[in-house]
Amino acid sequence: MSVTIKSEHEIELMREAGRILAIVHDEMAKIIRPGISTMDINRKGEEVIRSYDCIPSFLNYNGYPASICVSVNDEVVHGIPNKKHIIKEGDIVSLDAGVIYKGYQSDAARTHAVGEISEEDQRLIDITKQSFFEGIKFAKAGNHLYEISKAIQDFVEANGYSVVRDLVGHGIGKNLHEEPQIPNFKPIGRGMKLRPGMTLAIEPMVNAGAFEVWVLEDDWTVVTRDSKNSAHYENTVLITEGEPELLSYREDLV
Ligand code: MF3
Ligand code: CO
Repeated sequence: MSVTIKSEHEIELMREAGRILAIVHDEMAKIIRPGISTMDINRKGEEVIRSYDCIPSFLNYNGYPASICVSVNDEVVHGIPNKKHIIKEGDIVSLDAGVIYKGYQSDAARTHAVGEISEEDQRLIDITKQSFFEGIKFAKAGNHLYEISKAIQDFVEANGYSVVRDLVGHGIGKNLHEEPQIPNFKPIGRGMKLRPGMTLAIEPMVNAGAFEVWVLEDDWTVVTRDSKNSAHYENTVLITEGEPELLSYREDLV
């Protein structure tokens, strides 16, 4: 399948999918505190998604067994919620969620502090979020895709962290994963030319230590090889002639 350019009607549906997802993240953020389980977060997220008549897109995707990916500390992405996994003061928790509204998808991730966290971990969370905003400065029609990748990588590395190589962002629309792939590091070449109507899930995954990761025995949970912490930040973004439109983000929400 190749890159899809969305019609005005499709964009309208994706806006709604994104608007709802921003609320889902905000509602999940409100319940984060020491003592709850990662399954409690999944349950809350799924409940809010369904309350808007949406479908949790991750549930059963390639066999993934939950609605929300909950990844704690050295878990990078795709952590599987578990009622026995209790989060504690000082943890950092990455939440990744996707919704389908009338056949159209949105995808977004946030990393949260549980209670008081170290300054170091707060900086990791902040740099990761900021790297997304550095990247999207280049997300406009006429630019090339890897300008986004390069901006993310340069910012992250200038701050002493590393970007994960084995996982990338992606186009999104009727499908969760569409072309193009969007690395958070600069490959050879300049990538495709961006056009208005492209919708992209841009998602830096940033490690405090080295970039290498591996996958646990559950076949899903991606962890850092050096066991240092990792953070994730993602939004679904619409390319326009001018500034990109952030479909899954609201300034007054998380
Ligand atoms: N946001 C992630 C991605 O873009 C999560 C999908 S993994 C899933 O790949 F299997 F849980 F859906
Ligand atoms: Co994604």
